[in-house]
Amino acid sequence: MINILGIESSCDETSAAVIQNGKCLSNIIAEQKIHELYGGVVPELASRAHQQNIVPVVDAALKKANIDKTELSAIAFTKGPGLMGSLLVGTSFAKGFSLGLNIPLIEVNHMQAHILAHFIDKHNDSVPTFPFLCLTVSGGHTQIVLIKDYFKMEVIGETTDDAAGEAFDKAAKILGLPYPGGPLIDKYAKEGNAAAFSFPKISVPELNYSFSGLKTAFLYFIKDAIKKDANFIEKNLADICASYQKAIVTTLLIKLEKAMEQRGINQIAVAGGVSANSGLRNALLQLENTKKAKVFLPPFEYCTDNAAMIAITGYYKFLQNDFTTQRVTATARWNL
Ligand code: KG4
Ligand code: ZN
Repeated sequence: MINILGIESSCDETSAAVIQNGKCLSNIIAEQKIHELYGGVVPELASRAHQQNIVPVVDAALKKANIDKTELSAIAFTKGPGLMGSLLVGTSFAKGFSLGLNIPLIEVNHMQAHILAHFIDKHNDSVPTFPFLCLTVSGGHTQIVLIKDYFKMEVIGETTDDAAGEAFDKAAKILGLPYPGGPLIDKYAKEGNAAAFSFPKISVPELNYSFSGLKTAFLYFIKDAIKKDANFIEKNLADICASYQKAIVTTLLIKLEKAMEQRGINQIAVAGGVSANSGLRNALLQLENTKKAKVFLPPFEYCTDNAAMIAITGYYKFLQNDFTTQRVTATARWNL
């Protein structure tokens, strides 16, 4: 029996999970509401909240899994990328716990973990087979990744400026919605007409993305509209959200389809917080109907930051005897 405790603290979610032989027994996530007041994550407040949350969250994860800490085989933690102050809390905790229990320590790349979340609780027939493409879309990243094996990943396209999640969150802020605004845009978009307004679909070379121009176009569009009608946002919120979401989703899909053609790969996975977006999920399923692509969507609870994805990555590293030492340190930047 292989029991892996996963610890995630790269941004503003403190999470701990237990994976037993690839199956998720618990996945506890403490969100930090404090950042809503500031319209974005405040790094200093995030690390303080992680310090408060980490012990109760780990305790809850072990209890829910009905596993005693002495039954753990190893501890996997997010080493990076992320906010340094936040990463340090999870890293220090994992090092201490591993030393105290005398069990191996496994370092995990957060972006790799978002992708490997597809292998949680899965049997061979319901997982993508190698090679496959993964559209990784989160608050900090937008990438098309070619996955050749569990730990052989190559970024073949990425954003040159803002991430897709940032494009959602920044537009939400312009609309006066609280942080993180992505899920709220998604919610209002469901009631709206996506053809009501038109936003530019900015194209950059190769398989890359750019979202900062879209955000600026959105800002000026709203400013102009408010000049003509002070209640423009309230009157048109659903249509604005639907149209803006459509622009992001269409942009994401254009390059993804180009990547499929270029590489001759038709298995598509999606990962990261924005993979919870219903517009994106529908567009991908559409792709499945029309393009004969096989699409893999992670369950909602494994889309946004969570420790189950860290623990499953730890599980595959455990199988390969890929351990780290007490000298390991957190790293804010870490490419795939
Ligand atoms: O992966 P994640 O939890 O954290 C990072 O590693 O960045 O992603 C968070 C991002 C935020 O920008 C959030 O607004 C976005 O994912 N997000 C969504 C939805 N749910 C989360 N964006 C659009 N629609 C959603 N339903
Ligand atoms: Zn993430």
